[in-house]
Amino acid sequence: MTNSQVSPGGFLPSHARLADLIDTKQAVIGVIGLGYVGLPLIRAFTTAGFRCLGFDVDRSKVEKLNAGQSYIKHIDSSALAQLIREKRLEPTADMSRLAEADCVVICVPTPLNDSRDPDLSYIEGTARSIAKALRPGQLVVLESTTHPTTTRTNVLPVLEATGLKCGTDYFLAFSPEREDPGNAHFQAATIPKVVGGYDERSADLACAMYAHAVVTVVRASSLEVAEACKILENTYRAVNIALVNELKILYDKLGIDVWEVIDAAKTKPFGFQAFYPGPGLGGHCIPIDPFYLTWLARKHGEQTRFIELAGEVNAHMPQYVVNRLAEFLNEQRKPINGSKIAILGMAYKKDVDDPRESPSFELLKLLRARGAVLSYNDPHVQSLPRMRHYPDLPAMASQDLTPAYLAEQDCVLIATDHSAYDYDFIVLHSGFVLDTRNATKHVTGGREKIRKA
Ligand SMILES: NC(=O)c1ccc[n+]([C@@H]2O[C@H](COP(=O)([O-])OP(=O)(O)OC[C@H]3O[C@@H](n4cnc5c(N)ncnc54)[C@H](O)[C@@H]3O)[C@@H](O)[C@H]2O)c1
Repeated sequence: MTNSQVSPGGFLPSHARLADLIDTKQAVIGVIGLGYVGLPLIRAFTTAGFRCLGFDVDRSKVEKLNAGQSYIKHIDSSALAQLIREKRLEPTADMSRLAEADCVVICVPTPLNDSRDPDLSYIEGTARSIAKALRPGQLVVLESTTHPTTTRTNVLPVLEATGLKCGTDYFLAFSPEREDPGNAHFQAATIPKVVGGYDERSADLACAMYAHAVVTVVRASSLEVAEACKILENTYRAVNIALVNELKILYDKLGIDVWEVIDAAKTKPFGFQAFYPGPGLGGHCIPIDPFYLTWLARKHGEQTRFIELAGEVNAHMPQYVVNRLAEFLNEQRKPINGSKIAILGMAYKKDVDDPRESPSFELLKLLRARGAVLSYNDPHVQSLPRMRHYPDLPAMASQDLTPAYLAEQDCVLIATDHSAYDYDFIVLHSGFVLDTRNATKHVTGGREKIRKA
């Protein structure tokens, strides 16, 4: 049946009505989870001409948005304020308003629990909220990163319990988020979107919705292919980063600079993609998502050895950095105990304000255990948030990067290579610099003060 056909009862069926609403951009899009993924997605949908409702259980976020304030560095407050003024975006903590949305997109967290198993409680809680408001003619899309089968096993049954039928009354799809915060070249609207539907109608509707807002829509044959695709992408990164981290240690022993090797290797025009070593893995995705697959593999009596080995290598990197730092201080006849060490960069990667899972916290913990006198600077993280895995770290605030501050340190440890840093200035005023990111690559003066780790 096409959009213009009418059912025997005289009404357009649910999917045809929704297809019309999407086609004419009259559909209201509800985005659940107003974080690093949800807000950029809203920007893409509103830019495409849709009206959005933004849902979050964190009332402080909703209040900030309603006051026209962004809490994410790369999302512009004035643009948000304008969307809200023009009522193209309504942030709310009132989940009963989910019934007003024609399309509901889920962007809630998917962390690991204390035993490093998937914590699907956010997805399941959201599914329950949607179920309370579910009505015929709605499309629900899960975007949170998760292992294959989650949409069918953890979301579908909660929605079916309402008595409404997927594929006729309401529609369900999975479309992984590929947001790369801080990447100036790609934003939600310019990154191709993979979409898998519960059935053909669900896939048609979800593809039609995203086609308005993103550059390319790639249709997958099922929910599970779309889910598995995202985990493959993140596992590929975790494994390749582990590889260069391991080679960094070996090449350093051989007196070979791994960054120079990677720069040389990437001149090959095919068959090689550059990944870079660092002080460990960070962020809400790469250190976490592959373990969703490991958990699923265990359930099926299989192993994910690459994932586990990569996890082991990457998790060891902060300790490697501390060992290098100890050697470095030793050259100067200093112990770590009592040495002043400034960590530059608490965010998990350059130019973002997101400290989640950042290896800098592990560095702080390890160095603190060895008696270092610690401080940090990060232009994007003014004070350290409380981190669940680091309850004992004291409250700390970013120090000004003055010549005097740098000069009084026994070692300045570059953990995150923010573009805002003037590396010539840092090396000029520091006694010693330990660089875990090759951030000082272009510094010409004072190279004898720099070691890489
Ligand atoms: N951050 C990234 O770069 C990135 C990239 C790709 C994919 N992802 C994936 O996207 C998902 C979201 O990640 P994020 O970085 O945006 O997380 P985030 O923590 O920045 O935002 C999630 C938001 O969801 C809200 N929330 C939690 N439970 C809720 C509920 N029941 N109802 C309504 N709101 C709720 C939280 O308050 C928070 O504001 C995760 O699965 C993540 O793995 C993240």
